[in-house]
Amino acid sequence: MTSIPTAPARRTGPGWWRSAVVYQVYPRSFADGNGDGIGDLRGIRDRLDHLQWLGVDVLWISPVYPSPMADNGYDVSDYHDVDPTYGTLEELDGLIADLHERGMKLVMDLVANHTSDEHPWFIDSSSSPESEKRDWYWWRDEPNNWGSFFSGPAWTYCEGRAAYYMHLFAKKQPDLNWENPEVRHAVYDILRWWLDRGVDGFRMDVINLISKDPELPEAPVMPGQKYGNMRQSVIDGPRVHEYLAEMHREVFDKYDRDLLLVGETGETTVEEGRKYTDPDRRELDMVLHYEHVEIDHGAFKWDVRPFDLGRLRERLAAWQTGLADAGWNSLYWDNHDQPRIVSRYGDDGRWRTESAKLLATVLHLQRGTPFVYQGDEIGMTNYPFVSIDEVDDVEGVNYYHEAVAAGEDPEDVMRSLRAMCRDNGRTPMQWDDGPGAGFTTGDPWLAINPNHTEINVAAQKDDPDSVLSHYRRLIRLRHEDPVVVDGDFTLLDDVHPQLFAFRRRHESGELVVLANFSSEEAELGDLAQECRGEVALGAEGGPVLAPWEARVYRR
Ligand code: NOJ
Repeated sequence: MTSIPTAPARRTGPGWWRSAVVYQVYPRSFADGNGDGIGDLRGIRDRLDHLQWLGVDVLWISPVYPSPMADNGYDVSDYHDVDPTYGTLEELDGLIADLHERGMKLVMDLVANHTSDEHPWFIDSSSSPESEKRDWYWWRDEPNNWGSFFSGPAWTYCEGRAAYYMHLFAKKQPDLNWENPEVRHAVYDILRWWLDRGVDGFRMDVINLISKDPELPEAPVMPGQKYGNMRQSVIDGPRVHEYLAEMHREVFDKYDRDLLLVGETGETTVEEGRKYTDPDRRELDMVLHYEHVEIDHGAFKWDVRPFDLGRLRERLAAWQTGLADAGWNSLYWDNHDQPRIVSRYGDDGRWRTESAKLLATVLHLQRGTPFVYQGDEIGMTNYPFVSIDEVDDVEGVNYYHEAVAAGEDPEDVMRSLRAMCRDNGRTPMQWDDGPGAGFTTGDPWLAINPNHTEINVAAQKDDPDSVLSHYRRLIRLRHEDPVVVDGDFTLLDDVHPQLFAFRRRHESGELVVLANFSSEEAELGDLAQECRGEVALGAEGGPVLAPWEARVYRR
């Protein structure tokens, strides 16, 4: 095996993030510093040694702003403070300082497609049709037929205005009207306020929804659905690129520092992704698209389908080639909205360790900036939800009630939730095998996965063959090897039923990744000729890959 030096070589200046690795924390579920059962800033600060040991460069934290928590903080009621559940603004300043001392950066979540209905802007806007902020949100006397992403209609009636307001998500998340320049400038002020406080960038929540077709046309209704599918009128809408370029000009261009601007852009396309991230357009550095995490969705996410390797390979390769000469990819499997990848595309039973490592290898060795979501690094799995009472997530709970009311068998609905519910990714981080998994000394806000007695950081830290050690190796490889950062990408096979194989080529050499996505041995066939050079990751071997084996050659 190639020896990998320990000191990470970090870049600065334009494109510094190409060699960086981002770690995402969902604060509620990461570490509880005060024993109330809910993760907090103190908990995060106490665990920074883990991030530094792992070698990550950037920490992104999901929202910690004051919020009624209808969607666990993605419903912000004050953009300039910290919710007491998570701590104080001083503690956040402390986190920024701690990270900077360690050579790491902090990325905050910007939730600006919508606010909470308890935000003063909405309270004002909804108070009367004469309010100065009357056009800060989308108001109509009559709603159109759009459904929300979280079940039910996308419009709710408000007595104060005697009108309906639009909410693409929960009814406590009214959509801001970005057509109104006052709204956009208020958001830019928020960004400046945080940058001046020392944060190093933003992950922008559902940023490709901020521009709606202003006509708000009726939407097509899919078979079996009650409401119209509004996607065509809201995803990558008519003015989204204009708004992002304006934001860049008004805010980011004025800061002469290494920032990271990441857009969450669900259901976007390669073509749009390239536009968002082409450096010449000065919009964003990278986007979190969804195509590769919807391989097991049917017509909609609760319609769970078997994993299809061919489709995964094809979509990942399309993003790699589509953004090869302009733009940049982000690389992720999990986040707080996704079930655990080992349970979806891997094997969370007999081959859990092997498949978790394989998934990490094929992700981290593509061209792009990898995101590690808390728990990925130890191969955390889905939770065995049995009853809806165990589910907290607003999306899952709403879907359950709507489906059952429409006559679906509750057992079938629970089966979908078990596979797809977002709470799979939100169960507390498994630090050790103790009763609170090292997450809390109190009563955890969401159940801890019973498998924490086996799957936890403490059990893996000193084991060189663990998933955790594997992640650390991959992160170092990115810091050290220019092929990983800058090499081009070629898919080596697009028909093999078990293999995902690709080559990265650069003036300094090439890497070949051969991965067997199955619980059976895989014959390499013609690809056996790629078994040349040093084995950079995995074990030496012949023309057959063991179940869930991933082997990487460097030459
Ligand atoms: C995407 C966030 O990641 C998710 O958790 C949230 O529910 C929606 N946006 C709405 O803010």
